[in-house]
Amino acid sequence: MKLKSIQIQFLLFIGWIQLASTLVIYDSHVASSCIYFLRKRSWNCSSMGGHMSSSTWECQCHNIEWLGSITNCIHDFANSTAEMNHGYLHIVKRCNGKVGTDFTVDDMISYQENATNYLKDSELFPMGTDVTYPLSISNGVFTWWYKTFRDYNYFISMCQRLGWGAVGYWIGIIGFYGVYNYIGFKYVPYQFKQTVNKYLTYRYDFIFFGLNRLEALICFFFFVLNILLCSIGYNLELNSYLSSSWFLTLDCLSFRTDIIAFSLMPVLYLMGIRNNPFQWLGLMSHNTMIKYHKFIAIIFFILALIHSIIWTAYARSSDGGGFSVWAADAYFYWGIVGTITVGLMFGFSIEIVRNIYYEIFLFFHLSFSVLFIAAMWKHCETLGWMSWVYSMVAILVFDRVCRIFRIFQNGLVNKVKIDIYNEEMIKLEFTQPTGLIFYPGSYVYLHFLEPFYSSWQSHPFSLIRSTKFSNKLIIYLKCKKGITRKLKKNTLSKEYIKVLIDGPYGNFPVSTKNDNKFDEIIGIGGGLGISSILSIFNYRVEYCEKNIMMKNYKLNWLINDLKQLDMIKENLEWLVNKGIKVVIYFTKYEGEHEDYIIQENENILSSDDSNSTDIEKTENKNDNNVDKNIEIKNHKELIENNFIILKYGKPSMDELLPSSEDIKRRVYACGPNRLIKSIRNQVNFLDELQVENHTW
Ligand SMILES: Cc1cc2nc3c(=O)[nH]c(=O)nc-3n(C[C@H](O)[C@H](O)[C@H](O)COP(=O)(O)OP(=O)(O)OC[C@H]3O[C@@H](n4cnc5c(N)ncnc54)[C@H](O)[C@@H]3O)c2cc1C
Ligand SMILES: *[C@@H]1O[C@H](CO)[C@@H](O)[C@H](O)[C@H]1NC(C)=O
Ligand SMILES: *[C@@H]1O[C@H](CO)[C@@H](O)[C@H](O)[C@H]1NC(C)=O
Ligand SMILES: *[C@@H]1O[C@H](CO)[C@@H](O)[C@H](O)[C@H]1NC(C)=O
Ligand SMILES: *[C@@H]1O[C@H](CO)[C@@H](O)[C@H](O)[C@H]1NC(C)=O
Repeated sequence: MKLKSIQIQFLLFIGWIQLASTLVIYDSHVASSCIYFLRKRSWNCSSMGGHMSSSTWECQCHNIEWLGSITNCIHDFANSTAEMNHGYLHIVKRCNGKVGTDFTVDDMISYQENATNYLKDSELFPMGTDVTYPLSISNGVFTWWYKTFRDYNYFISMCQRLGWGAVGYWIGIIGFYGVYNYIGFKYVPYQFKQTVNKYLTYRYDFIFFGLNRLEALICFFFFVLNILLCSIGYNLELNSYLSSSWFLTLDCLSFRTDIIAFSLMPVLYLMGIRNNPFQWLGLMSHNTMIKYHKFIAIIFFILALIHSIIWTAYARSSDGGGFSVWAADAYFYWGIVGTITVGLMFGFSIEIVRNIYYEIFLFFHLSFSVLFIAAMWKHCETLGWMSWVYSMVAILVFDRVCRIFRIFQNGLVNKVKIDIYNEEMIKLEFTQPTGLIFYPGSYVYLHFLEPFYSSWQSHPFSLIRSTKFSNKLIIYLKCKKGITRKLKKNTLSKEYIKVLIDGPYGNFPVSTKNDNKFDEIIGIGGGLGISSILSIFNYRVEYCEKNIMMKNYKLNWLINDLKQLDMIKENLEWLVNKGIKVVIYFTKYEGEHEDYIIQENENILSSDDSNSTDIEKTENKNDNNVDKNIEIKNHKELIENNFIILKYGKPSMDELLPSSEDIKRRVYACGPNRLIKSIRNQVNFLDELQVENHTW
């Protein structure tokens, strides 16, 4: 079943490539040079606006002499039938798009045939006199026009190729990740891999906004690539359209930036969606994708802004004829709407807003991404490049279709057993839908149907296989401020709730299929980050027990509330019985702070309270915390019977990950950023670190 959906994804992806490969502009330089040549004549127009102004087209497209002249010009100067038809199509699209005529290429052919009977030489109608016959244009007069417009068109198609270069960069990166994550890792020597990890992938410098050095390098090269793409190959001659070098430069730069920006749009959208073929092809995490998504968004915004500033400035200048002439055209103000939309999306995406209320961010992000497509649609309707816009629509639709497909595959409405442990902890348990493939590290998005009005939201949660019933899956859920909080309030008296399950998601490098190559496997979970670790550990016990010494596994769990232990006790006991060492650190038994305060290489253990056997002592120290001490007593039994070691106080990093220079360890970690950060600083050269993220 999983294969099936992957195949469907793949087919759709190929479909997308097909669509994208037909992305061509219908601009014909024969047509353009003819248009601009003839524009020097007078066609009984009351006003001639900007080069895309509909009033100009209005009078041209309705003027039979103009139609005769333009088709004759295209007929005479096109070198092949294909080029001629392309030229006719250009006129058809412009007239139909700008003035609402319903011309066809056949109409153009008959206009041309009719015109041959009436032709007069163009030199008979100098500027200023109204043209009353269709014109024939002699070769000598036209050559310059033809050449300059051809070069201009070549310039534009070069911009398009450069745009593909920018897209190609990301396809290359994804390909590289894919090759490495599927097979490449087998051939890379461990020492080399670890050197790369040590200096690149495990290093998060604070100036890189949460990117590791490798990701930062990838983004940096992309930035440099864009600067190069925007600055090479400007060598156009002036022509009648690009009539001053100031305008020529502006126009060329604008074409560069906007075509590259346009080419990036599908990449940007693809990286943001949930059902992301890139992610699957490269076996990358959504988390990484989101980082690239953000970076590409920044580059995109800069390019779009340059484009917008150029045209706004030009429109306002005396050359451009004033703002009002331009603003009359739909494409112009829709362009402005588009740029503003992207700007607003940035505003709503900054971390502060995301943290205040994630749903608000998501809601605006999604609605603006749709509004942006609409704006680009109106912007390009008459200008061309629509295929890029279609590709964005296709991508968004694709994602939605996949989501719905997955929800149906998982049997639509699922009944989930709900156990509320305390203010902020809930355990969900449900029978594995037949369509849902479970794998370690997988997660699903849940739509809670109660309360009904919030069922449109969906939130990600890690799946764990129940250790008691192999057909049941479990989710440990921590209530935050949004839907998860409401969930608790609304279901207090209920035993079962209804949910839609969208999943499974999560892609993992093939190298993490098993832990065979490692001498020791250490799991470190902070709070409910344990769910991701349990998902892996439970699976290892189930499937790898025979080949692998379970005693090589060790699970460290840092909690600040002993209630969590109640919730997960059963699972932990099971692990312990299979021979896995489990140590729990109760980090909050002393103070009231909820934050983890594990600092780099610092032992924060208060010396005399650190021993797990010293429960009595703890009790005496904390008379003001009577409730907690009672809990501790209750857990004493658990500790003694099953050898789960419960320690009080924050562990030092040395305790979690003792330094060892000569054994290969794999460390699975999931938890608050601070914890992850200290782990990164603590790992030894031979340690491989796998981090799961619960926030994006
Ligand atoms: C891959 C993954 C696995 C997860 N597994 C678990 C788990 O097993 N148990 C658990 O308790 N929590 C898990 N989480 C976190 C869980 O998704 C959030 O706690 C939950 O969505 C919060 O919902 P809320 O409306 O109460 O959030 P709010 O209080 O509105 O927001 C709190 C924070 O939750 C995150 N968040 C909210 N909505 C989303 C969303 N739709 N997508 C991504 N992040 C969001 C944001 O970082 C936000 O800042 C996981 C997250 C991810 C990304
Ligand atoms: C020019 O335009 C006017 C009004 O738009 C129209 O009445 C007139 O017939 C046109 N002349 C020609 C030669 O098309
Ligand atoms: C043919 O061309 C002439 C000259 O442009 C024009 O007056 C006439 O209306 C055209 N006839 C048709 C059927 O298009
Ligand atoms: C068409 O012919 C002209 C003149 O021979 C030539 O300059 C031009 O490059 C040709 N155009 C194309 C597209 O081949
Ligand atoms: C903690 O326990 C260890 C042995 O487990 C012991 O050697 C040490 O003295 C104890 N420390 C304190 C402060 O009780």
